Amino acid sequence: MSQAAGPADARAEALHGLIVEGLADRGLAIIDDFLPPKRVAELAAEARELWASGDFQDAGIGQGENFQHNATIRTDQIRWLNPAAATPTQGCFLATLEGLRLAINRALFLGLFEFEGHLARYPAGAYYRKHLDQFRDTDQRVVSLILYLNAAWSEADGGQLHLYTDPSDESRQELVLPIGGRLVCFLSDRFPHEVLPAGRERLSLTGWFRRRD
Ligand code: OGA
Ligand code: MN
Repeated sequence: MSQAAGPADARAEALHGLIVEGLADRGLAIIDDFLPPKRVAELAAEARELWASGDFQDAGIGQGENFQHNATIRTDQIRWLNPAAATPTQGCFLATLEGLRLAINRALFLGLFEFEGHLARYPAGAYYRKHLDQFRDTDQRVVSLILYLNAAWSEADGGQLHLYTDPSDESRQELVLPIGGRLVCFLSDRFPHEVLPAGRERLSLTGWFRRRD
């Protein structure tokens, strides 16, 4: 750490260290309080405003000519982030991710080139069935990131992220509650996963660090 680095930098460095270690050891890191509650609440409030003004669209699957809406697979709604038109709160989060991207590259040489991401809203009952985050025919998505934006989420609310941590052994799984401020980060080609239906609105910011084309 440089001499000028203050407590905020020290905290970021510690979080980066945990994420790098998790990715290197098992391809997966789950970090609580990645963002302070105030910043999580701001992102959530903005997501709700955008949704209320009709800015979300039904999420699809596939890419390019394979893109389709398929409600048997996913029923969430998304709103892509546009870095050029980000709100200050979104911009601040994107800057935080930029620091993380560089830290991962320095430690693991993954050649991560950019972030793409969207806000996601699962209305009560919505789901996303078991899938991998990489599109057929391309390996551009290298690291998946999900930041949850839900205040006071409990087991009874459902909506867990169900991760199959060993694709060759279905019994190896992890259920992650979408608790506000929690970041889930994993190698995109490694783990099939699904989002279980929730009993109430479930908000997140989801994205990927990508390799160059
Ligand atoms: C996705 C996804 C998981 C979650 O958007 O691809 O798997 O917990 N999201 O929201
Ligand atoms: Mn996914």
